[in-house]
Amino acid sequence: MERAWWKEAVVYQIYPRSFYDSNGDGIGDIRGIIDKLDYLKELGVDVVWLSPVYKSPNDDNGYDISDYRDIMDEFGMMEDWEEMLEEMHKRGIKLVMDLVVNHTSDEHPWFIEARKSKDNPYRDYYIWRPGKNGKEPNNWESCFGGSAWEYDDTTGEYYLHLFSKKQPDLNWENPKVRREVYEMMKFWLDKGVDGFRMDVINMISKVPGLPDGEPQKGKKYASGSRYYMNGPRVHEFLQEMNREVLSKYDIMTVGETPGVTPKEGILYTDPSRHELNMVFQFEHVGLDSGPGGKWDIRPWSLADLKKTMTKWQKELEGRGWNSLYLNNHDQPRAVSRFGDDGKYRVESAKMLATFLHMMQGTPYIYQGEEIGMTNVRFPSIEDYRDIETLNMYKEHVEEYGEDPQKVMEKIYYKGRDNARTPMQWDDSGHAGFTTGTPWIRVNPNYKEINVKAALADPNSVFHYYKKLIQLRKQHDIIVYGTYDLILEDDPYIYAYTRTLGNEKLIVITNFSGKNPVFRLPDDITYKTKELLISNYDVDETEGLKKIHLRPWEARVYKLRLS
Ligand code: NOJ
Repeated sequence: MERAWWKEAVVYQIYPRSFYDSNGDGIGDIRGIIDKLDYLKELGVDVVWLSPVYKSPNDDNGYDISDYRDIMDEFGMMEDWEEMLEEMHKRGIKLVMDLVVNHTSDEHPWFIEARKSKDNPYRDYYIWRPGKNGKEPNNWESCFGGSAWEYDDTTGEYYLHLFSKKQPDLNWENPKVRREVYEMMKFWLDKGVDGFRMDVINMISKVPGLPDGEPQKGKKYASGSRYYMNGPRVHEFLQEMNREVLSKYDIMTVGETPGVTPKEGILYTDPSRHELNMVFQFEHVGLDSGPGGKWDIRPWSLADLKKTMTKWQKELEGRGWNSLYLNNHDQPRAVSRFGDDGKYRVESAKMLATFLHMMQGTPYIYQGEEIGMTNVRFPSIEDYRDIETLNMYKEHVEEYGEDPQKVMEKIYYKGRDNARTPMQWDDSGHAGFTTGTPWIRVNPNYKEINVKAALADPNSVFHYYKKLIQLRKQHDIIVYGTYDLILEDDPYIYAYTRTLGNEKLIVITNFSGKNPVFRLPDDITYKTKELLISNYDVDETEGLKKIHLRPWEARVYKLRLS
């Protein structure tokens, strides 16, 4: 397998609004990031993926961009950003910027022009259609609820917005749009950025004619996703982008690709196709969703998690590359969702980290994950800020007549604000995030869960992550070894091996508060073994044949085979 720096790297995602506020306005900012770079250096991460910091009216916290070449006022100025990049590079940390080009803000000058008249030169930068029988041009639902179309009075036509109505979709069929995007990418690359995370990049090509989607039971609008996810020209567009821009720089690229299958994942990431380095697949974070989608919540099962992760590990092996993540700014906190955020918070957070970081792919840490931050339960919907959550609440309570408390429970489990509460730096007011009033409340558990406490405790989740990151630097097998699932049918234990030449890793993780027994499969024999990491004290003379695991226990052994 080809070596590459981005395969060996660990990425840390910063959601700037919630990271660290340097000027007391209650909103995280770029100078705040600069202040915390030594912390990231201490953790040992190689790359920062920075969620959008571009000019934006913040309908969707920066994922609605009104100027791609400037910085949002609340976050600082271009000079601050340049200093941040320089300070990152000084510490050997690379910077990956978020690239949001499926849509712009409706306050972007292109859209302001486009909506003026049907023959405006920018009209065709977006997707406009006349209504059909006095209704929207088709029945697609927006990802944030309601119709995906907004009527515009000035010209009497509708524009498409797969997200909020302040996020009109760009028309990638128009070569001028693509040219503008490529030029803008070069603008940032020439400033020295080290790559892009591409927002919903598999939605940029829509099926011509924009056909109606299948109606959904009990819902007003239909899912049109099969007509805009992995659309007919998406690979052509990405290959063009690669030719025109990406291939000219030594960078890393990761596409956010909801609904992607391993087969599609290979099309995006097979190096010989010259598209992207890796994609974020969504199957494992969809295991607790029913046919009704994200808010149709059901329990996930370990059997399904094994199936899904193993499928991705095996199918991309030698053909593409995986991104490994359990949470981000759109997902609930990993320890609350897949672990036990009560009694075994520390053990289960470490177990999940082991489970993820030992797989093949590039691991992503979402801010706060490295100290085991948890979901939050704010008492009132008024405490929530996320547009998706607020729209959903309104729709479910007002239109579908659901019990508000039941809707709040859904938000407690799945809402995006779980991930967006301020980073918990210490046990002072507002968790040390701001001296002002934070834009969203802090999680009340900050007195116990915070960076200061984690740094001071050698057994903390933080120090465990630090060790995992170091191990990756010391053992090629963690990056390049092939993956195989073992003990497939065990209801509590997720165990797998990684193999490279004469070495094998055995990764044992207990996904329960119980005490299951691990038994080494007979066909695994070895000369010597070494314990690389574990989240409990382990007697190193203990054999591998049969292990009584403790709640949420994780161990990694490295075996020499002959
Ligand atoms: C995916 C981003 O991660 C999410 O936060 C955003 O709301 C949508 N794309 C729209 O840009």
